[in-house]
Amino acid sequence: MDLMQSIIARAAAEKQRIVFPEGTEERTLLAADRLLADDVVRVTLIGDTKAILQAAGAKGLKHIRKASLLNPHDYPKMKEYSELLYELRKAKGMTTEKARALVRNPLYIGCLMIKAGDADGEIAGAQNTTGDVLRPALQIIRTQPGISSVSGAYLMFTKNRNFGENGLLVFADCAVIPNPTATELAEIAVLTARTTRSIAHFEPRVAMLSFSTKGSASHAMVDKVVEATNIARNLDPTLQIDGELQTDAALVPSIGNRKAPGSMIAGRANVLVFPSLEVGNIAYKLVERLGNAEAVGPILQGMGAPVNDLSRGCSSEDIYKMAAISANQAIGIKAGK
Ligand code: ACO
Repeated sequence: MDLMQSIIARAAAEKQRIVFPEGTEERTLLAADRLLADDVVRVTLIGDTKAILQAAGAKGLKHIRKASLLNPHDYPKMKEYSELLYELRKAKGMTTEKARALVRNPLYIGCLMIKAGDADGEIAGAQNTTGDVLRPALQIIRTQPGISSVSGAYLMFTKNRNFGENGLLVFADCAVIPNPTATELAEIAVLTARTTRSIAHFEPRVAMLSFSTKGSASHAMVDKVVEATNIARNLDPTLQIDGELQTDAALVPSIGNRKAPGSMIAGRANVLVFPSLEVGNIAYKLVERLGNAEAVGPILQGMGAPVNDLSRGCSSEDIYKMAAISANQAIGIKAGK
């Protein structure tokens, strides 16, 4: 069984409640229909009920009838959710009027459902930007205990089995924090190692990437990566991590030996942590497009419950996989992992 199949099987064994705020969106409906046909998760679609059923009917989707349909115009819990939003955000200037207006937004409803215990995870972003998906999640669900920043990792299924773990690598942060501090970068490393263990199921060997290897260049940007590596070691002394490393030193054994002799990670890295979002986002798209790798993600890590953002260019297959991954995250969070 390959990794994605085992992720789907684990989700199906403990069906989680996944909410889709973009309930009338075509790729979302196709994915939801398949998730219900395969019995992978329980599905809630938010949107105008008539529009959802019409769109599903037009596509011949027979399983959507098994989904819960939440129409913001007549859902009985809207008042409860707007009161919850007001309570959660009143210290930040939220008023009852603003809460009543915001709660009509499906992206807020999805997060409030999770906060109220009515859903286990959310997937959105086929229509909305990353910022619009993440903001309500960061405001309402917030981070896991002991974690201060949310970031986004990708599973990169490359064609070259000599790299990473038989060709599979985990990249981060490729989605959230534009210019992380050393402390945030350290958290990205620790969270990505956790994502690797819980979703990719292999032991992480983390390379903290830079344009310098072990002092070959001096710059404040290099210092930040060195500092982040030290902080990460303190946060998780069991973590196999090294930095700063250039990408070739991280991935190619002969170059790793030459540039970073004695390093346990150089030449053997299976987790790559990028120094900024610019690098991470550009790198994963280059590896995906020019290297013909399959990129699965972003898997948002550090959030109190799984909220996963899609690329607006996503396929229904991507949404299907991200639902299964979100369910695995929810199972892990409930188990305290
Ligand atoms: N982790 C935890 N909390 C955070 C984070 C984070 N990374 N970022 C912001 N917050 C919190 C803030 O502390 C704030 O909390 P508060 O209101 O309780 O005080 C709340 O979230 C809102 O923060 P803002 O600063 O108002 O939100 P901002 O407008 O900066 O949005 C966002 C945050 C959306 C994550 C922003 O950093 C962003 O847009 N990042 C880039 C996303 C992006 O475009 N990625 C690339 C594309 S993804 C792809 O290709 C698939």
